[in-house]
Amino acid sequence: IIKQLVDRMECIQEIIAYKKQNGIPILQPEQEKKQEDNLKQKLGDNVFEEEILNIFKYIVKNSRKIQAKALFNYNIFLIGFMGAGKSTIARRAAAELGFVYVDTGAIYRTLGLLACRQGVAPDDAAAVTALLPDADIRLRYGSDGLQHMYLGGEDVTESIRRPEISKYASSVSAIPAVRAFLLNMQRDLARTHDVIMDGRDIGTVVLPAADVKIFLTASAEDRARRRHAELAAKGLPDCYETVLADIIERDRKDTTRAAAPLRQAEDAIAVDTTGLSLQESFDALLETIRRKLGQ
Ligand code: DC
Repeated sequence: IIKQLVDRMECIQEIIAYKKQNGIPILQPEQEKKQEDNLKQKLGDNVFEEEILNIFKYIVKNSRKIQAKALFNYNIFLIGFMGAGKSTIARRAAAELGFVYVDTGAIYRTLGLLACRQGVAPDDAAAVTALLPDADIRLRYGSDGLQHMYLGGEDVTESIRRPEISKYASSVSAIPAVRAFLLNMQRDLARTHDVIMDGRDIGTVVLPAADVKIFLTASAEDRARRRHAELAAKGLPDCYETVLADIIERDRKDTTRAAAPLRQAEDAIAVDTTGLSLQESFDALLETIRRKLGQ
């Protein structure tokens, strides 16, 4: 535990140094006040040596792993259309801020892969729901710092990116029982890490108290171009028209479905990356986060 705490403190110190250097407040004023009040309540009439008190304050102030989650939130929630380059730029933004990037779509994709492998039609809600009790889906961060998905112990990080799995993921994610099943896994991640989390219902259902909510998008054509290049680079060439048609169809399905349709949350900031390069999109995202945290 002490080792974990030390690692955590080092990581927090880096984040704090980064925030100081870039003029990002460590805590927003209302969070600072909440934290002080909470600390007073916790200490009650107990008197501690100055040094112990400082350590205690430091832990309460900084360690999300212990109990600070209730005191301050640095969750950033990101929602957006498929292929808007969002995972790439969100991952970079997370690295820049010292946060962990959580791609929740990958979790739905892993369940989609399971349905596919079990020969279950992804829109058959009863059959997909029946898979849930035995579904062994895990998320771990590899030594490369990247999010890896495991299904029954097998690393399926690559397999879940196949285009047919996109369709499975889109269908299974429309099933309310699936969403309920995956909720705790996502909340646990946010409880134990400072996260940039990517997914449509994060700001409303999973982490309604997220500090910064961003709706990231780009035109369908732009996204198709990026996705096409991505697939080609992986040796999975699909013609551009097919990729575009797939994107348009998935947008339609994702925005019109009954369970958690994709739409901009009221308190989300829109960042449109149409026509922007990856670097420019990244800059736009980081700038939005900094502005919001710095308010
Ligand atoms: O972002 P993606 O393409 O990897 O997501 C795969 C599918 O999962 C997509 O159809 C949207 C869905 N999804 C969801 O319903 N809720 C989330 N939090 C994340 C993804």
